[in-house]
Amino acid sequence: MSSQELSSFIGRWLPRLEDEMRDMLHSKEAAVAAHYGMMGYHMGWLDEQFNTQISPSGKRLRPMLCLLACAEMGGDPIQALPAATAIELLHNFSLIHDDIEDGDETRRHRPTVWKIWGVPQAINAGDGMFTLAFAAMQRLVRRGVSADHTLQALNLFTQTCLKLTEGQHLDMSFEQRIIVSVDEYMRMIQGKTAALVGASVAIGALMGGAAASQVSDLQQFGEAIGLAFQIQDDILGIWGNPEETGKAAGNDILRRKKSLPILHALNHDRVGEQFETLFDSELSPTQLPKALDLLEQAGTRQFTEAAMRHQHELGLAALRQALDERVENSMLFGLTDGLLNRRS
Ligand code: IPE
Ligand code: IPE
Ligand code: MG
Ligand code: MG
Repeated sequence: MSSQELSSFIGRWLPRLEDEMRDMLHSKEAAVAAHYGMMGYHMGWLDEQFNTQISPSGKRLRPMLCLLACAEMGGDPIQALPAATAIELLHNFSLIHDDIEDGDETRRHRPTVWKIWGVPQAINAGDGMFTLAFAAMQRLVRRGVSADHTLQALNLFTQTCLKLTEGQHLDMSFEQRIIVSVDEYMRMIQGKTAALVGASVAIGALMGGAAASQVSDLQQFGEAIGLAFQIQDDILGIWGNPEETGKAAGNDILRRKKSLPILHALNHDRVGEQFETLFDSELSPTQLPKALDLLEQAGTRQFTEAAMRHQHELGLAALRQALDERVENSMLFGLTDGLLNRRS
């Protein structure tokens, strides 16, 4: 596989995905155009006045994994397109609500939906997007996918939504606790992030006609990559450059998020107590340099990067299991390989 092959796949399918998503969000009635306008703003298609504007729209990682998995199994990605659309809409619903839950004011370099239109309307825009995700899944039958495969995909999708909300529940409940174990953290990110990444690959594979064992290996691959991806998000949430990530840095610390770097510092032999004292105090942005200094002393970044690489390797082992010797040539491998070096 050449990286050119992957770029040409993305170049071919990304515009189709965007078209399918726009089609889902298309509003027919002027009276409620703003409801869809808020969603279109979040997707990066509209500005605050709902005029067309091209803004940073996210990496579209999950739908690409879905379409690639379908192609990898010998299927025509067109059949997986409604599912890829559903997956990206679900992801974006979760981000609209996540920004409310996390109190984040910036995403993808722009003010968040709640910051502009207030929390009640942002909750509602998220609910609309959640519902449209399910409507998108129902389009699978129109593309010639059998009723049986559609139901299987819908079942996995539904389970995944629930896992996502379980993960978000744990994420928020951990803000109120000082002691959270690494196992509890892994359970939390398995729910909030890995489940959907795993389902993206599994549903794509299912649409491509994969056998059940292959679907399961590929789901395992996606979940491990999802864990690595979230650990990397934790790293970027502390050390990322806001100009590149488009999100504020330091907010995880201020909100006492139990991200992996923070858990490492809290459990550290030498600086753990100091970090905990800082965490127990009224945290303000002026204390961020002190917190960063303690993380530095604890070697937290190296620890977290190693944990991320470990999950990445587990993911590649599962991919090898699914694809045998074809693995190095696969576009799934290519896409995943590039992920570890992301800066946004
Ligand atoms: C952000 O996901 C939330 C996580 C699960 C880490 P992405 O980093 O995929 O967000 P976008 O869609 O590219 O903005
Ligand atoms: C990501 O949560 C998971 C979901 C949105 C379901 P985070 O809160 O860790 O992600 P960012 O950093 O805000 O994108
Ligand atoms: Mg967040
Ligand atoms: Mg969150």
